[in-house]
Amino acid sequence: MSRNQLWLLLLLVLLSCIADSVSTMNQQKDRSIKSAVFLSPPFFLHPGSVANKFYFNIPFPKGHIALKSFDAEVIDENGIPVPLHETYLHHWIIERYYGRKESLADGNSELKAFNHSNFIWMRNAGICKGTLGQYYGLGSETRRTSTWVPDPYGIEVGNPEKIPDGYKEKWLLNVHAIDTRGVEDRFGCTECKCSLYNVTMDEFGRALPKDYDGGLHCCYDQTQCQVRAGIQNVSRILYLKYTVKWLNWVENIIPVKIYIFDVTYSGEHSVDPSKENPLNLSCKVEYEIKSCKDNGGCVDTKRTQLVIPTGGDIVYGVAHQHSAGLGATLYGQDGRVLCTSNPTYGDGEEAGNEAGYIVGMSTCYPKPGSVQVVDGEMLTLESNYSSNQAHTGVMGLFYVLVAEAVPKSKTMLFLSFPGSLDLGLTKHTWSFVLAGGMLTAIFGISYLCKRGRRKPYQPLVLT
Ligand SMILES: *[C@@H]1O[C@H](CO)[C@@H](O)[C@H](O)[C@H]1NC(C)=O
Ligand SMILES: *[C@@H]1O[C@H](CO)[C@@H](O)[C@H](O)[C@H]1NC(C)=O
Ligand SMILES: *[C@@H]1O[C@H](CO)[C@@H](O)[C@H](O)[C@H]1NC(C)=O
Ligand SMILES: *[C@@H]1O[C@H](CO)[C@@H](O)[C@H](O)[C@H]1NC(C)=O
Ligand SMILES: *[C@@H]1O[C@H](CO)[C@@H](O)[C@H](O)[C@H]1NC(C)=O
Repeated sequence: MSRNQLWLLLLLVLLSCIADSVSTMNQQKDRSIKSAVFLSPPFFLHPGSVANKFYFNIPFPKGHIALKSFDAEVIDENGIPVPLHETYLHHWIIERYYGRKESLADGNSELKAFNHSNFIWMRNAGICKGTLGQYYGLGSETRRTSTWVPDPYGIEVGNPEKIPDGYKEKWLLNVHAIDTRGVEDRFGCTECKCSLYNVTMDEFGRALPKDYDGGLHCCYDQTQCQVRAGIQNVSRILYLKYTVKWLNWVENIIPVKIYIFDVTYSGEHSVDPSKENPLNLSCKVEYEIKSCKDNGGCVDTKRTQLVIPTGGDIVYGVAHQHSAGLGATLYGQDGRVLCTSNPTYGDGEEAGNEAGYIVGMSTCYPKPGSVQVVDGEMLTLESNYSSNQAHTGVMGLFYVLVAEAVPKSKTMLFLSFPGSLDLGLTKHTWSFVLAGGMLTAIFGISYLCKRGRRKPYQPLVLT
């Protein structure tokens, strides 16, 4: 990528930030939604290759805030959205952690070299020990799936009172993408079929079980899916562009807990997840669909039961499935439907409408107070897939946001509280955050471009 292209890209990002800030500044200050667009460091793909990157301390809004949405997509070096049939976005996730202030191991160090005493992982409220601790995360459906947290709710982060002395709150971005240009079997590569990757050992060099036909343990960073003979090997530079929306934290925002439920949950708890083989965790994250022998129209239904530790109002819900997914439902203990999330399949070529891929998942926004769960309620998660063909590495996750039921007296207080404490500062704080974020992005990117291709990242199981 030439220097000019890079700066054009950064300028575009900057301009869109300024446009957002101008429009937000015209709104009432204390309640205005802030918005910023950031780019991940660049990653490099050629036909059949896989990138599974972990970027520490990514640019992120600072301060005590309520996250309202986090949207992302893959773009090329000219800022153009890249369709899934070229770069399949298996997933992106963001994780929150407290890192030591003086730690130099930011950004791009190898995970292996990480001193874990410099980290405190701040996982979500979910019950999958050792995995699925993210705050937000989506895959191919990212362009057409709402991540908006409805009013008056927000995901509270950056509360200075909760950050231990000597630490700073930071964010990790994990991007997993597969370049399927010129491959033999496009959906086989996106489903991480081990045979297509010629992989028999996981990324740590451990032999995979004989019956493991496909999934993330066969398409880790720098693996290679089989390409057709004679194709042109054109490599490309890609970025994850992410847009964060947030509010300054004020009393009248109601915090929500994030739960991510997994249909592979088996209830077996491992003693020390960090030392566990990921294949032994109680949430396997992925599963396989066997092909049915009938003439078609077969549905594979997988169900699991799980206990939600703390109840409240469900204010948002969405499922995550892979191609061939037919929808997922979360039920309460008495069988009532808490939320159903269905996929939208594309039927074209262009980014956001790619034929055969899940390009969006429907979301639930129950009227506040209308869908409740109680502490310790036994829920059932159900995930349906078409089983006309076999599939490997499929997922059935359900992401829900739960607000603790609000005492009536507090509700009254909200109505009379104008939230005017931080008036006056808002505009300056905002400009400062914006400038800081953009500078970080600009310096980060130009630094990375100078350094060129990075060392490979080591995989991890996040707690
Ligand atoms: C890790 O960091 C802690 C605190 O910064 C330090 O005391 C310890 O010696 C470090 N360990 C290694 C192996 O570098
Ligand atoms: C697959 O990997 C083995 C070693 O692990 C190697 O000997 C063989 O040539 C590879 N096959 C292909 C088609 O790359
Ligand atoms: C394709 O290009 C990449 C880097 O540009 C290189 O690492 C890879 O080995 C090449 N693959 C083939 C089959 O030539
Ligand atoms: C994981 O499970 C397998 C059997 O499923 C067992 O052989 C292995 O020892 C387990 N690994 C760990 C680290 O517990
Ligand atoms: C899953 O399939 C079963 C059986 O075909 C059906 O009863 C159920 O409603 C389906 N659930 C979803 C979420 O589509």
